Amino acid sequence: MFKPGELWPDTHGTPINAHGGGILFHGGTYWWFGEHKIEGEAGNRAHVGFHVYASENLVDWRDEGIALAVDDSPGSEIPGGCVMERPKVIHCPATGKFVMWFHLEPKGGGYSGARCAVAIADTPAGPYRYLHSLRPNAGVWPENVAEEDKRPLSAEEAAHLESLALGGAPFPWYPKHLCYRRDHEGGQMSRDMTLFVDDDGSAYHIHAAENNGTLHISLLADDFTTPAGRYVRVMPGRFHEAPALMKWNGRYFLFSSDCTGWSPNPTRLSVADSIWGPWEELGNPCIGNGAQMANSFESQPTFILPVPGKQDAFIYMADRWRPRNAIDGRHLWLPIVFKHGCPVIEWHDQWDLGVFDV
Ligand code: DGJ
Repeated sequence: MFKPGELWPDTHGTPINAHGGGILFHGGTYWWFGEHKIEGEAGNRAHVGFHVYASENLVDWRDEGIALAVDDSPGSEIPGGCVMERPKVIHCPATGKFVMWFHLEPKGGGYSGARCAVAIADTPAGPYRYLHSLRPNAGVWPENVAEEDKRPLSAEEAAHLESLALGGAPFPWYPKHLCYRRDHEGGQMSRDMTLFVDDDGSAYHIHAAENNGTLHISLLADDFTTPAGRYVRVMPGRFHEAPALMKWNGRYFLFSSDCTGWSPNPTRLSVADSIWGPWEELGNPCIGNGAQMANSFESQPTFILPVPGKQDAFIYMADRWRPRNAIDGRHLWLPIVFKHGCPVIEWHDQWDLGVFDV
């Protein structure tokens, strides 16, 4: 049974510690990667690394240890106390490697670094070897802007943007067409993120860019360790984070949240016929009473898991964050159901995979 929001013990009885996570299905086993949190507010930063668990049935999870550990050696980009969030792992057929991407904030910089980082391993559980961090698509213009908008900022525009002292939250005068031009040379910002592998084997990095104002969808290179140099801006100025992507009946559905820090907010569902867009925002996929819809059952999306071997079976994986005592954050999984051609989520106190058989 899945019991959304309750403590979820691993096979040794210890609560699963894999927040902001994602799942790789490989070799008949599910591999769940997530942020290992420690107690207190300190747990909002990385002190251990990313935990990995394995399961054959999605309910009983074996602790497989730390897949990528913080590293305090000189020159390390992932020392204890940095921010490492939302790890996602995919398998690369071209190289045979398992490739992990995550959100990295260098130690001491708050969330201003806005970088993504990559680590690889020869086996699903790792340990993973840290490769590099980057800001995606340096020197590359997005594909879906007009030719005349592919230009660096003027000095006046740059000064205006600087004066706004942008953070990561929405506000009315957010200049939605300036940030990608500011970041063209040095690379686009990358905070909350996910990975998605399409039916044709192409892999994509979906990340909150432009001070969280706009999502970017970037194609990955064949070895999945760098961007390939093709990307689009998605829903400029709408401030989506926590992206999680699924494909159903040939259409792409994006679950995401508003930008309200650790506090839950109404989830958003968007749809597109091509991953390159255009994307249309549909509304809140959480169906329930007012409070449940306003806070998405007290959750923020992290991943959508297609259940192999079952028709139309997808699991909404989300976090119920507890920023004052990060280790107490809860995992909240709910089955996705389809209504009027759209994936939606309803509350269940408990459920099992049998819901997909009816
Ligand atoms: C919301 C994000 O979704 C989380 O991953 C984390 O970055 C928090 N914001 C930090 O406030």
